[in-house]
Amino acid sequence: MHPVDLSCELAGIRAPNPFWLASAPPTNTATQVLRAYEWGWGGAVWKTLGKPVRNVQPRFTAMHTAAERMVGFSNIELITDRPLEDNYREIAAVTARYPDRATIVSLMFETEDEWKEHIERSVAVGAQGLELNFGCPHGMCERGMGSAVGQEPALVETITRWAVRYAGVPVLVKLTPNVTDIIPPALAAQRGGAHGVSLINTIKSVMGVDLDRMVPLPVVGDASTNGGYCGPAVKPIALHMVGALARHPEFRLPISGMGGIGTWRDAAEFLALGARSVQICTAVMHHGYRIIHDLTEGLGHWMEEKNYRTLDDLIGRAVPNFRSWEDLDLNHRVVARIQTDKCIGCQLCYVACLDGSHQCIYLPDAEHPDAPIRLATESRMPWVAENECTGCQLCHLVCPVEGAIKMVPLHTGQPRQSWRELQALAVTESGTSNDSTLEGRQGFWQTQGIG
Ligand SMILES: Cc1cc2nc3c(=O)[nH]c(=O)nc-3n(C[C@H](O)[C@H](O)[C@H](O)COP(=O)(O)O)c2cc1C
Ligand code: SF4
Ligand code: SF4
Repeated sequence: MHPVDLSCELAGIRAPNPFWLASAPPTNTATQVLRAYEWGWGGAVWKTLGKPVRNVQPRFTAMHTAAERMVGFSNIELITDRPLEDNYREIAAVTARYPDRATIVSLMFETEDEWKEHIERSVAVGAQGLELNFGCPHGMCERGMGSAVGQEPALVETITRWAVRYAGVPVLVKLTPNVTDIIPPALAAQRGGAHGVSLINTIKSVMGVDLDRMVPLPVVGDASTNGGYCGPAVKPIALHMVGALARHPEFRLPISGMGGIGTWRDAAEFLALGARSVQICTAVMHHGYRIIHDLTEGLGHWMEEKNYRTLDDLIGRAVPNFRSWEDLDLNHRVVARIQTDKCIGCQLCYVACLDGSHQCIYLPDAEHPDAPIRLATESRMPWVAENECTGCQLCHLVCPVEGAIKMVPLHTGQPRQSWRELQALAVTESGTSNDSTLEGRQGFWQTQGIG
């Protein structure tokens, strides 16, 4: 037992750890959720309840790489296709047996009366919280629900207000990523009285096309439709949206983050960017409930190493360092340096820099005044002309050998300076903020080596 306390609190919902199953196939039935709780999951958001639906077959498809299967996952599944009576009976059994876990009921209905009825039924069977599914990007949105609501801040606000009026337990609004800006729907949820938000639901996508049948994937008889994308590939989009909300000055609600989480490290990143709990779907569909052991052990050991005693010590730590581009240091310099003890001479970095970047990696036989002397054993190893290198990092990314190209910081002695500071200086140097003649501004930027 490590001395780190992983217990989690979000909008008054408590759980022994921050790892919750997302609303999806792994939370479809009581037998599943009970088994997940036995494994140690901190919470589960029940597969969304709504009016009866029928599903198509098949309904999942995935993107694989040579190294890993299911790096991206897509589904055209709808909400629960089981009778609501069965769901409510099973939720009651789960909440009675595990009152210490965050059992949250996900709902998607149309009219205020339907929302009221099913909110009250969910609370009656012991839901610790509710999650309003405003995210489903297929099937349900054509019926005016799911992402059709999540994309309309006015609807988000109205339905959230209904839910909060009838709930009496914390209400989380699950946001859709199928918007250009996550802030307006999140602020609408806040105005509607939500106690928290969860994000992201799946991203509208087409996984591929069957070129023999000329039908997009997954092929359902003779046709297909757009799916919802999730799994490791969506993590960067999810992290961006979670971080954007956490650093927004007007947004104050706690966040349950999800999208591509499969390891404790992924989870730590979401927590560092402001999430108070994390939810997981694809990784469990891929590897099973048992991953909870690695998640809790890994996070606990890492927190202990970093001296974070509770989740609150970690949550939001990276938020102040997530800034606008204008506030980054323009004088921060790095160069690529090839490590001859690791390089295998594949020359992938040379080609990448030649065609995709700034032509400053040279082959050993190139005529160049800075060319290093290469040993016979290093005859295929390229080298970097550091004073030509723009520090873009492309070579480091394409290199197949860990550690063969290091990005080394250069200490130029120049003070930190951001674009915003540079612009302010331009205004000062050109006299007044009214002096915005093209000639005047061009003169200043030329002194800075720009323009
Ligand atoms: C097959 C499948 C079914 C899903 N069903 C629901 C659902 O009923 N309600 C819901 O809110 N989200 C649903 N989701 C979305 C997940 O809860 C989650 O938001 C998304 O998959 C991102 O997490 P992940 O990358 O860990 O999978 C579903 C996802 C998948 C893959
Ligand atoms: S960091 Fe960019 S510019 Fe520098 S050597 Fe690598 S690819 Fe070329
Ligand atoms: S890509 Fe890496 S291993 Fe290949 S030549 Fe460049 S530094 Fe060496």
